[in-house]
Amino acid sequence: MAAAAVRAVVLISGTGTNLQALIDARAQGSLALELSAVISNRPGAYGLQRAKLAGIPSAVLQHKEFASREAFDASMAVAIDRYSPDLVVLAGFMRILTPAFVRHYAGRLFNIHPSLLPKYPGLNTHRRALEAGEREHGATVHFVTEELDGGPAVVQARVAVLPGDDTETLAGRVREREHVIYPLALQWFAEGRLKMENNRAWLDSEPLPRHGHLIDNLNRERG
Ligand code: GAR
Repeated sequence: MAAAAVRAVVLISGTGTNLQALIDARAQGSLALELSAVISNRPGAYGLQRAKLAGIPSAVLQHKEFASREAFDASMAVAIDRYSPDLVVLAGFMRILTPAFVRHYAGRLFNIHPSLLPKYPGLNTHRRALEAGEREHGATVHFVTEELDGGPAVVQARVAVLPGDDTETLAGRVREREHVIYPLALQWFAEGRLKMENNRAWLDSEPLPRHGHLIDNLNRERG
Protein backbone atom coordinates (compact mmCIF):
# COMPACT_ATOMS: atom_id res chain seq x y z
CA MET A 1 0.00 0.00 0.00
CA ALA A 2 1.32 3.47 -0.86
CA ALA A 3 2.18 5.70 2.11
CA ALA A 4 -0.43 8.40 2.83
CA ALA A 5 0.48 11.79 1.35
CA VAL A 6 1.94 14.38 3.67
CA ARG A 7 -0.41 17.33 3.52
CA ALA A 8 0.52 21.01 3.74
CA VAL A 9 -1.52 24.19 3.96
CA VAL A 10 0.36 27.28 2.76
CA LEU A 11 -0.34 30.77 4.16
CA ILE A 12 0.50 33.80 2.01
CA SER A 13 0.03 37.56 1.92
CA GLY A 14 1.66 38.57 -1.36
CA THR A 15 3.25 37.60 -4.64
CA GLY A 16 3.75 33.96 -3.67
CA THR A 17 7.05 33.24 -5.40
CA ASN A 18 7.91 30.86 -2.57
CA LEU A 19 4.54 29.16 -3.04
CA GLN A 20 5.44 28.86 -6.75
CA ALA A 21 8.77 27.27 -5.84
CA LEU A 22 6.88 24.63 -3.84
CA ILE A 23 4.42 24.03 -6.68
CA ASP A 24 7.33 23.67 -9.14
CA ALA A 25 9.34 21.38 -6.84
CA ARG A 26 6.28 19.19 -6.47
CA ALA A 27 5.77 19.08 -10.24
CA GLN A 28 9.44 18.16 -10.73
CA GLY A 29 9.16 15.36 -8.18
CA SER A 30 11.61 16.82 -5.65
CA LEU A 31 8.93 17.66 -3.06
CA ALA A 32 6.63 14.88 -1.88
CA LEU A 33 4.00 17.13 -0.33
CA GLU A 34 0.36 17.45 -1.15
CA LEU A 35 -0.37 21.20 -1.26
CA SER A 36 -3.89 20.92 0.13
CA ALA A 37 -4.82 24.59 0.27
CA VAL A 38 -3.53 28.14 0.10
CA ILE A 39 -4.93 30.72 2.52
CA SER A 40 -4.31 34.45 2.15
CA ASN A 41 -5.13 37.34 4.46
CA ARG A 42 -5.18 39.65 1.43
CA PRO A 43 -7.75 39.19 -1.35
CA GLY A 44 -5.43 40.75 -3.97
CA ALA A 45 -2.44 38.52 -3.23
CA TYR A 46 -1.00 37.31 -6.56
CA GLY A 47 -0.21 33.98 -4.90
CA LEU A 48 -3.94 33.21 -5.09
CA GLN A 49 -3.65 33.21 -8.91
CA ARG A 50 -0.72 30.85 -8.68
CA ALA A 51 -2.79 28.51 -6.51
CA LYS A 52 -5.67 28.65 -9.00
CA LEU A 53 -3.39 27.90 -11.96
CA ALA A 54 -1.98 24.92 -10.09
CA GLY A 55 -5.45 23.66 -9.16
CA ILE A 56 -4.96 24.17 -5.43
CA PRO A 57 -8.05 25.20 -3.41
CA SER A 58 -7.72 28.60 -1.79
CA ALA A 59 -9.44 30.77 0.78
CA VAL A 60 -9.19 34.39 1.87
CA LEU A 61 -9.55 35.49 5.48
CA GLN A 62 -9.14 39.23 5.86
CA HIS A 63 -7.62 40.10 9.19
CA LYS A 64 -9.25 43.51 9.23
CA GLU A 65 -12.67 41.89 9.41
CA PHE A 66 -11.86 40.43 12.83
CA ALA A 67 -12.10 42.26 16.14
CA SER A 68 -8.81 40.94 17.48
CA ARG A 69 -5.68 39.08 16.51
CA GLU A 70 -6.93 36.16 18.63
CA ALA A 71 -10.24 36.00 16.75
CA PHE A 72 -8.48 36.11 13.37
CA ASP A 73 -6.02 33.38 14.30
CA ALA A 74 -8.78 31.18 15.73
CA SER A 75 -10.76 31.44 12.47
CA MET A 76 -7.65 30.78 10.48
CA ALA A 77 -6.96 27.61 12.48
CA VAL A 78 -10.50 26.42 11.72
CA ALA A 79 -9.98 27.11 8.00
CA ILE A 80 -6.62 25.33 8.05
CA ASP A 81 -7.78 22.32 10.05
CA ARG A 82 -10.53 21.64 7.53
CA TYR A 83 -7.69 20.17 5.42
CA SER A 84 -6.17 18.13 8.30
CA PRO A 85 -2.64 19.18 7.33
CA ASP A 86 0.51 17.55 8.64
CA LEU A 87 2.28 20.89 8.38
CA VAL A 88 1.55 24.57 7.89
CA VAL A 89 3.87 26.62 5.71
CA LEU A 90 4.21 30.39 6.05
CA ALA A 91 5.32 31.67 2.66
CA GLY A 92 5.46 35.44 2.88
CA PHE A 93 2.62 35.53 5.41
CA MET A 94 3.02 38.97 6.93
CA ARG A 95 1.08 38.66 10.17
CA ILE A 96 2.37 38.15 13.69
CA LEU A 97 0.79 34.98 15.06
CA THR A 98 -0.71 34.53 18.52
CA PRO A 99 0.86 32.10 21.01
CA ALA A 100 -2.29 29.94 20.89
CA PHE A 101 -1.99 29.56 17.11
CA VAL A 102 1.71 28.77 17.26
CA ARG A 103 1.20 26.20 20.04
CA HIS A 104 -1.60 24.51 18.08
CA TYR A 105 0.87 23.76 15.25
CA ALA A 106 4.01 23.28 17.36
CA GLY A 107 6.63 21.27 15.52
CA ARG A 108 4.79 21.47 12.20
CA LEU A 109 4.75 25.19 11.49
CA PHE A 110 7.47 26.58 9.19
CA ASN A 111 8.51 30.04 8.09
CA ILE A 112 11.02 31.48 5.67
CA HIS A 113 12.63 34.73 6.65
CA PRO A 114 14.83 36.95 4.44
CA SER A 115 17.89 37.26 6.68
CA LEU A 116 20.57 35.21 8.34
CA LEU A 117 18.70 34.78 11.62
CA PRO A 118 19.25 35.62 14.44
CA LYS A 119 20.32 38.75 12.57
CA TYR A 120 17.52 41.06 11.40
CA PRO A 121 14.28 39.55 12.63
CA GLY A 122 11.20 41.58 11.64
CA LEU A 123 10.78 43.82 8.59
CA ASN A 124 13.03 45.60 6.05
CA THR A 125 15.79 43.05 6.40
CA HIS A 126 17.54 43.90 3.10
CA ARG A 127 17.68 47.62 3.83
CA ARG A 128 18.97 47.02 7.35
CA ALA A 129 21.66 44.61 6.13
CA LEU A 130 22.82 47.14 3.52
CA GLU A 131 22.82 50.00 6.01
CA ALA A 132 24.90 47.94 8.43
CA GLY A 133 27.48 47.32 5.68
CA GLU A 134 27.09 43.53 5.84
CA ARG A 135 29.17 41.54 3.38
CA GLU A 136 26.86 38.53 3.71
CA HIS A 137 23.12 38.25 3.83
CA GLY A 138 20.64 35.48 3.13
CA ALA A 139 17.54 33.63 4.20
CA THR A 140 16.56 31.15 6.87
CA VAL A 141 13.92 28.41 7.02
CA HIS A 142 12.93 27.83 10.62
CA PHE A 143 10.35 26.20 12.85
CA VAL A 144 7.97 28.80 14.23
CA THR A 145 7.84 29.28 17.98
CA GLU A 146 6.31 32.02 20.09
CA GLU A 147 9.43 34.15 19.73
CA LEU A 148 9.13 36.29 16.56
CA ASP A 149 11.51 34.88 13.89
CA GLY A 150 13.24 33.08 16.76
CA GLY A 151 12.41 29.39 16.31
CA PRO A 152 15.04 26.73 15.58
CA ALA A 153 16.71 27.18 12.20
CA VAL A 154 16.58 24.35 9.66
CA VAL A 155 18.40 25.67 6.59
CA GLN A 156 20.20 28.91 5.94
CA ALA A 157 21.37 30.18 2.54
CA ARG A 158 24.10 32.77 2.50
CA VAL A 159 24.57 35.18 -0.38
CA ALA A 160 27.23 37.80 -0.96
CA VAL A 161 26.39 41.48 -0.66
CA LEU A 162 27.98 42.89 -3.82
CA PRO A 163 29.30 46.39 -4.46
CA GLY A 164 26.48 48.49 -5.90
CA ASP A 165 23.70 46.33 -4.43
CA ASP A 166 20.47 48.08 -3.56
CA THR A 167 17.54 46.56 -1.70
CA GLU A 168 16.04 45.28 -4.95
CA THR A 169 19.13 43.52 -6.32
CA LEU A 170 19.93 42.07 -2.91
CA ALA A 171 16.33 40.93 -2.32
CA GLY A 172 16.34 39.30 -5.76
CA ARG A 173 19.51 37.35 -5.03
CA VAL A 174 18.17 36.24 -1.65
CA ARG A 175 14.77 35.31 -3.11
CA GLU A 176 16.42 33.01 -5.64
CA ARG A 177 18.02 31.08 -2.79
CA GLU A 178 14.78 31.03 -0.80
CA HIS A 179 13.27 29.09 -3.66
CA VAL A 180 15.92 26.42 -3.20
CA ILE A 181 16.00 26.08 0.58
CA TYR A 182 12.27 26.03 1.33
CA PRO A 183 11.50 22.97 -0.84
CA LEU A 184 14.62 21.29 0.56
CA ALA A 185 13.63 21.79 4.22
CA LEU A 186 10.03 20.76 3.59
CA GLN A 187 11.12 17.64 1.73
CA TRP A 188 13.13 16.62 4.81
CA PHE A 189 9.98 17.04 6.88
CA ALA A 190 7.89 15.13 4.34
CA GLU A 191 10.37 12.27 4.53
CA GLY A 192 10.05 12.19 8.32
CA ARG A 193 13.71 13.18 8.77
CA LEU A 194 13.18 16.60 10.34
CA LYS A 195 11.82 17.30 13.82
CA MET A 196 11.72 20.03 16.43
CA GLU A 197 12.61 18.91 19.93
CA ASN A 198 13.89 20.82 22.98
CA ASN A 199 13.78 24.03 20.95
CA ARG A 200 16.22 22.60 18.43
CA ALA A 201 15.86 21.31 14.87
CA TRP A 202 16.93 17.68 14.38
CA LEU A 203 17.76 16.06 11.05
CA ASP A 204 18.13 12.28 10.92
CA SER A 205 18.17 12.23 14.76
CA GLU A 206 21.14 14.63 14.93
CA PRO A 207 20.79 18.21 16.16
CA LEU A 208 21.33 20.75 13.40
CA PRO A 209 23.73 23.65 14.08
CA ARG A 210 22.07 26.73 15.63
CA HIS A 211 22.02 28.50 12.23
CA GLY A 212 20.67 25.35 10.55
CA HIS A 213 22.17 23.46 7.61
CA LEU A 214 24.23 25.98 5.67
CA ILE A 215 24.04 26.41 1.91
CA ASP A 216 26.62 28.75 0.62
CA ASN A 217 26.96 30.63 -2.62
CA LEU A 218 29.49 33.23 -1.54
CA ASN A 219 32.54 32.28 -3.56
CA ARG A 220 30.63 31.75 -6.77
CA GLU A 221 28.91 35.12 -6.37
CA ARG A 222 32.04 37.08 -5.56
CA GLY A 223 33.60 35.62 -8.74
C1 GAR B 1 9.98 36.39 1.07
O1 GAR B 1 11.19 37.06 0.82
C2 GAR B 1 9.95 35.89 2.49
O2 GAR B 1 11.21 35.51 2.97
C3 GAR B 1 9.43 37.10 3.22
O3 GAR B 1 8.46 37.63 2.37
C4 GAR B 1 8.80 37.34 1.02
C5 GAR B 1 7.59 36.74 0.36
O4 GAR B 1 7.79 36.61 -1.00
N1 GAR B 1 8.89 36.75 4.49
C6 GAR B 1 8.96 37.55 5.54
O5 GAR B 1 9.49 38.64 5.53
C7 GAR B 1 8.34 36.97 6.79
N2 GAR B 1 8.62 37.79 7.92
P1 GAR B 1 6.83 35.69 -1.89
O6 GAR B 1 5.38 36.15 -1.59
O7 GAR B 1 7.20 36.04 -3.29
O8 GAR B 1 7.05 34.27 -1.53
